[in-house]
This record gives sequence, C-alpha cells and structure tokens, in this order.
Amino acid sequence: MKKIFVLIFLFILSFVYIYGTFCLQSGLPEDIDGYRKWTRLNKKIIGPKAADPHHGFKREYVNRSKSELVDSTGNLIFPYPEGTIVVKDVRKTAKKNSRLVLLSIMRKLPGNETTGGWDFIEYTRSSQGNSFIPINFSKESCYACHRGASDSDSVWTKFNNSWLFTSGNSTAWGYPCG
Ligand code: HEC
Repeated sequence: MKKIFVLIFLFILSFVYIYGTFCLQSGLPEDIDGYRKWTRLNKKIIGPKAADPHHGFKREYVNRSKSELVDSTGNLIFPYPEGTIVVKDVRKTAKKNSRLVLLSIMRKLPGNETTGGWDFIEYTRSSQGNSFIPINFSKESCYACHRGASDSDSVWTKFNNSWLFTSGNSTAWGYPCG
C-alpha cells in the first residue's frame, strides 16, 4: 500500500515538474506557447546590469529556425520576417527553472510602422501564485530605446557565428532548452 502512495506522489511530482518546465504560465498569450523550445538568440544568459531595463537573468528565444535567420556565412539577416516573435524570459536567478519574473515580447506585425514594424508588450505578476498581466508601458516607449539597435532591426541581441553572446554582462552559460 505504501508503495502505491509513493508512486502516486512521484507521479504528481513529475507532472508538476514537467508543467513548470514546459507549460505556459497563466496570463501569457497562446502564440508563445512552447517558446522555451524555440531558437535561442543568446547562448549565454544575460545577467542583471546597473540601470537594467529588464532586471534579472535573461534568455531570449525566436520562433524561427536558425537557417531562416542567418545567411550562408552565419550572420543574421535583417529585417526579421513578418510574423517573427522574439521572447525575452527574465528569471530571478540563473537557474533554468528559477521564478519567471518578467516576460517581454516583440512581434513583427503589420500596423506597427511607427515602432520599427514591431509590436512590444511586457508581462509581469504581483506574486508567484497570480496570473501574468501586461505592464502599463507603451510600445512607443519600448521602441524609444530599441530604436538604438536600428542596425539589427531594433533587436539588441545578436548571436554571432559561434552562437556566443559577446556584449553585456554575461554571468553563466545558458542551457539548451526543450
Ligand atoms: C532603456 C532601454 C530599453 C527599454 C525602455 C526597453 N528595452 Fe527591451 N531590451 C533592451 C536591451 C538593452 C535589450 C538586450 C538584452 C538586455 O540586456 O536585456 C533588450 C531586449 C529585449 C528583448 C529581446 C530582444 C532584444 O532586443 O535583444 C525583448 C523582446 C524586449 N527587450 C522587449 C521590450 C519591451 C516589450 C519593452 C517595453 C515594455 C522594452 N523591451 C523596453 C533595452 C530596452
């Protein structure tokens, strides 16, 4: 009998682990479901910096395969194609399953001509048990900073040929996701 309880407990535990690792957290939009299996834009985790616009430990993902994004020499092709989604996952610590504190999204969609072709939105939550909600920050304000990356279609992070993030304060190696 005891064994059955242990088995049930382990089953629930593994379900919780799988859910926490792969499933979309409540309040986040469905079109980013499974984003942790998308192509990673930064191989190294981007750690917190002084005056950080998105404070925390960041991994970035794009809903395109590497071959769609780079030319034959391995350099990124700009602009990003229509329908591209870039997700920045910001966690409290560098651990893969550390608490998600902020999720920033850029979507290449028509109707965003004044913001570099990108729609910007960011989600956060008041505490771990609560749903994510969009933060009150206009896409124009996001773009006011992101336009500084105009050489790379308003996307700051670029993986180079060896997939290493070379600028910024990187603190640890990223994990291949999925
Ligand atoms: C003051 C400047 C600044 C503002 C404002 C800002 N960002 Fe960023 N954002 C950055 C920088 C710099 C990066 C590169 C990674 C890093 O260091 O966080 C970045 C990275 C990102 C990324 C990953 C793609 C990339 O560019 O590397 C997304 C998605 C993103 N930001 C969304 C947003 C959204 C949505 C808003 C508004 C709610 C916003 N950002 C406001 C500076 C800014």
